[in-house]
Order: sequence, then structure tokens, then C-alpha cells
Amino acid sequence: MTKKKDIVKLLLQGREVRPCKERGFGKAWANIAVCKYWGKRNEELNIPVTSSLSISLNGHGTETTVTPCSGNDEVSLAGRPIAPASQFGRGVAGFLNMFRPDANTFYRVETTNTIATAAGLASSASGFAALAMAVNDLYDWKLSGRELSIFARLGSGSACRSIFDGFVEWNAGASADGMDSFAEPLSVEWPDLRIGLVRVSTVPKTVSSRTAMKRTRRTSSLYEAWPVKVAHDMMLLKDAIGTGNFELFGQVAESNALAMHATMIGAWPPVLYWLPESVAVMRDIWRARDEGLRVYFTMDAGPNLKLLFLAEDEDAVKKYFPGVDVVTPFVKP
Ligand code: DP6
Repeated sequence: MTKKKDIVKLLLQGREVRPCKERGFGKAWANIAVCKYWGKRNEELNIPVTSSLSISLNGHGTETTVTPCSGNDEVSLAGRPIAPASQFGRGVAGFLNMFRPDANTFYRVETTNTIATAAGLASSASGFAALAMAVNDLYDWKLSGRELSIFARLGSGSACRSIFDGFVEWNAGASADGMDSFAEPLSVEWPDLRIGLVRVSTVPKTVSSRTAMKRTRRTSSLYEAWPVKVAHDMMLLKDAIGTGNFELFGQVAESNALAMHATMIGAWPPVLYWLPESVAVMRDIWRARDEGLRVYFTMDAGPNLKLLFLAEDEDAVKKYFPGVDVVTPFVKP
């Protein structure tokens, strides 16, 4: 079986793992998928079954510095040390192990999130993207966007999309080693597009998205329908983005998210990330839409909702959803 280390060797093509600088720096935005990544054809390398499409959240993400140090890896988040045995600590160590030149090389990884992690935004995508960029900077590898995307994907699938700004498509690819499974930015912008973060709960989820997607792929009879739906949704979304058809865009994004959740509800044991409050917000959205407001939602592996709407409806959306945090993905905050 091809290992992550083998892929990193392929990516580096003879580049050296020897620091050229004192420290490396990387910065990447979080992203929200409007066509989801759900299910892997290769679990070791995070190669997806389907392509996906996301929006990077300009200004909301992660900044990371990597410095070689001695004795042990030291990882910190917002200035606080992270335990090596924690999920975060193990994730970072796993990433560093992909290129660590020998057992005596250690790194200090200092990470700060510039997103409200509390707002229910996943930080692992921007986290691994920023880490990949920081390592690339430290070693002065000058990896291309495509290579960086593959490198970040080895940390977490969705991280491959956080390498780029704006609308980003992650091509599933077909090769066994995943060298054709990388993200690319679309050359379209939608400055009026708004994303509203509706926080329902900040309690950590009991099932990680990694576990849930594995279980869905293995046990859910509904999963068979997923790649067919994604292929159709990708086409419709690109059409909606290209023509600025917001209703089509919102409808397909919402339907795609609900279909993803349906596949996991159909898994065994079932995975249901929704809380009663999530469903209440869904009903509020549907009611608002019935009353003429152009607002749609998407949801990831958690109970929180992300609203999709246009700048002209921002005031009305805020009236319906008073606690909403508004992000402008195409305009610097
Ligand atoms: C529901 O990228 O976190 O957010 O590759 O196992 O690290 P791993 O999974 P991850 O899954 C994200 C799932 C999602 C959908 C999406 O972002 O496309």
C-alpha cells in the first residue's frame, strides 16, 4: 500500500529537507463546501470518491509558524501548549512524520486561528493548509499550488481546498496514488455572496467526520446514490456560479448537504449530527423562504448551519437570525 511518506517523496522530487530559514510561515482560510466531500476511495491518502466544490472564507483561517527545535515536538494553539496525545497533537505529529528527515529532528509548531472556532467553523482544513504552507516556506521547496494542495490533503482531505481563495474545485482524480487529486481555484468571483454562521452548539462532536464518512461508505445503502448526485450537483453549481443564478446555487448547495446527511443517517450505527435546535433553524429558513427571503443553508459534520444569501438581503437575514455571524468570502473583512 502506498504510504503518505511515499507521496511526499514523489512531491519533493529530490528537494532537500534541510532548513533554509530560521522559521517557516503559512496562512490559509477555512472553507465551506457547497458540494461536499464525503467518502474516500483511499483512506490512508485521503483520496475522495467524488469531486467537491467550496468557498474559502477570506480573512477567517489559520496562521502557523514552524521552527526546528531539539528534544521534542512542541505544538501550541493560540499560545497554549497542546498535549502530544490529543487529537490535534497526533494530527500535527503525523503530518511532520511524513517528511521528518531523522528521529532527532523536531519542530515547534505555533498555530493561531483567526476564525471564531466557537462559531462552529472547522479549523482542520485551514490548519493543515497553513501547516503545509509553513513547512514549504521553512524548507524553501517552492511547491506549486497543485503540489501544496496534495501535500495538505495528506493531513486532511478538505485542507487541499484551503490552499486557494474564492471558489475552489477539488478534482477527485482517478490515479491510485492520488497525484491527480488536488484542488484548483475557479476563475469566477461572487462579491455579493454572503455566508452566515448560525451557531447551535459548540459541544465537541462524538463522531469525527473521518469516522463518520468511513462508516457511511461501508454500511449505508444510500451511499450508492451519492456519487451520482455529486456529479449532477457539480454541474449545476458551476452553471449557477457562472451565470450568477443565486436560487439555483442555494438550492443545489442545500440539497447536497441534506443528501450527505441522509447517507450518514442511513449508516449503521447511524450518525446524526443534528440537534433539535438545528432542525428548528432549518424550519426557520424554510419559513423565511416561503415568505420570499432568498436564504439557503449548508451543514457539515456538526449541528451548526451556514446560511447562504446575497448582500442585498443581509439586513433581512439578520432580522430573522439575530445571532448570525456574517462572512464576506470575496471581500476582505
Ligand atoms: C463534512 O476533510 O475533515 O466537512 O479527510 O478525514 O480529514 P478527513 O475529513 P475532513 O472532512 C470534511 C467533511 C465535510 C465536507 C467537506 O468539507 O467537503
